[in-house]
Amino acid sequence: MALEGQRVVVTGAAQGIGECTARTLAAKGCRLYLTDIQAEKVAGVANELGARHGPVDIGDPPSAQTMINHAISQLGHIDSLVNIAGIDGPDDDALEETEEHWREIIDVDLSGPWWITRAALPHMIERGGGRVVITSSVTGVMGFAEFSPSYHAAKAGLVGLTLGLSARFETDGILINAITPGYIGTTGNPMPQSEIDAYNAVNPLGMGGAQPVADAVCYLLDDSGRWISGTVMNVTGGLLRG
Ligand SMILES: NC(=O)c1ccc[n+]([C@@H]2O[C@H](COP(=O)([O-])OP(=O)(O)OC[C@H]3O[C@@H](n4cnc5c(N)ncnc54)[C@H](O)[C@@H]3O)[C@@H](O)[C@H]2O)c1
Repeated sequence: MALEGQRVVVTGAAQGIGECTARTLAAKGCRLYLTDIQAEKVAGVANELGARHGPVDIGDPPSAQTMINHAISQLGHIDSLVNIAGIDGPDDDALEETEEHWREIIDVDLSGPWWITRAALPHMIERGGGRVVITSSVTGVMGFAEFSPSYHAAKAGLVGLTLGLSARFETDGILINAITPGYIGTTGNPMPQSEIDAYNAVNPLGMGGAQPVADAVCYLLDDSGRWISGTVMNVTGGLLRG
């Protein structure tokens, strides 16, 4: 399963890590379907890359299914699915987080990748295989005081989802893995340069930006990932060890 020529769906491709991943996959010869809740913005990225595109709200199961159906009709088939769309913040202190915020984060960040993956799996089973990447976060495997309970819980939930789904669908030739990015700095809620400098002063590898995550996606989708399933790939520049 070489990367070149693969037909890949990327969610969250309008900006940030998703856009960087789309650009990287396009440069390696993938045929892409790019999707995001920001329909116009993702269309702009797709048009620049010669990719197909369409809108989705990953938190809405019918929207997820409609998007996957559209992607199949546009690409012919799907080899790989890269779940990157998500929301982070504003982060509420644990006791301040509202029910509304909790539900929104769980709906989008935890349920969303499952609705998308669930919609794509029957197609991959029928084709006899595929690759799925799920973007968790270092907050899924490590505790921080500054992130909201919902974000921690959603991203940890994606780790469990990855472990369970990978065990279930290996027999169908589908390899499912998670990536846990550390602090990216430049995407999501971009950090002020002073905070990036303070982080970099005590973390020798510093903040890596989006590219290391995009490169990890390539590794998992390419031949290099053929014996990797149920992995939670630590891409944190040394923030998380072990
Ligand atoms: N930035 C970081 O430091 C960091 C660290 C760890 C994990 N992550 C995760 O990486 C992923 C990408 O983060 P980013 O930094 O590129 O953020 P970003 O905000 O720049 O990009 C996220 C994209 O997801 C899209 N999106 C949001 N809600 C959606 C929905 N309901 N349906 C469809 N699309 C939706 C947005 O429109 C946006 O284009 C997220 O899942 C995030 O939790 C980010």
